[in-house]
Amino acid sequence: MLTAYDYTFARLLEEAGIDVILVGDSASNVIAGHETTLPITLDQMIYHASAVVRAVERAMVVVDMPFGSYQGDSRAALKAAIRIMKESGAHAVKLEGGRPILSTVRRLVEAGIPVMGHLGLTPQAIYQFGSYRVRAQDEAEAQRLYEDALALAEAGIFALVLEKIPAALAQRVTQALPIPTIGIGAGPHCDGQVLVLYDMLGLNKAFSPRFLRRYADLHSIVVQACKQYIQDVKSRDFPSQAESY
Ligand code: KIV
Repeated sequence: MLTAYDYTFARLLEEAGIDVILVGDSASNVIAGHETTLPITLDQMIYHASAVVRAVERAMVVVDMPFGSYQGDSRAALKAAIRIMKESGAHAVKLEGGRPILSTVRRLVEAGIPVMGHLGLTPQAIYQFGSYRVRAQDEAEAQRLYEDALALAEAGIFALVLEKIPAALAQRVTQALPIPTIGIGAGPHCDGQVLVLYDMLGLNKAFSPRFLRRYADLHSIVVQACKQYIQDVKSRDFPSQAESY
């Protein structure tokens, strides 16, 4: 699984053969430049998801429910999830959290909406955590996460993202669950992996967590290309005769 937020990148992921595209609320960071994922709205998520869905033929498209759209009463959450499914054409939604959102997960699943869970470092709770450090390192939090995972699976989620937790805990959860786990900073034992597209393409030099493998250095490529363009325009090398009408 990789994230995408627009038509052009989603088409590239589709061409590469990705199984699942996550329209992550990380759009709040990498697209809109916010410090956290909290500000992005339901309308904005639907806008990004619609663009991604238009690009996709084979991949499954999962959309993050934004902060504030599902943490309260489950009727409002169902309404928000239905808007995402109807207006974007996506195939599933993802929600952060464990037992406190169980009734909402059940309600969505009963309505026929596939739900992906997300435990560990759940960025919508960043102000409660106080930092982006590894979660569930102590026994009490690890046990809570394990029980949350079992409860979410029981409530009907079809897959579970595990973010920034010890690899041994991710392995324990993966072995216990009848559904796939998808890790980000959760070690090699998860059934699948996810990365934020812009990070794995090396677009952001400033973000360098241990779990991030960069598969390209698009930062250098884009900056170099733009520098060359500026130089070519100033020197009147561009456009050439062949590039003119
Ligand atoms: O918003 C996002 O991109 C995510 C992934 C990091 C799992 O939730």
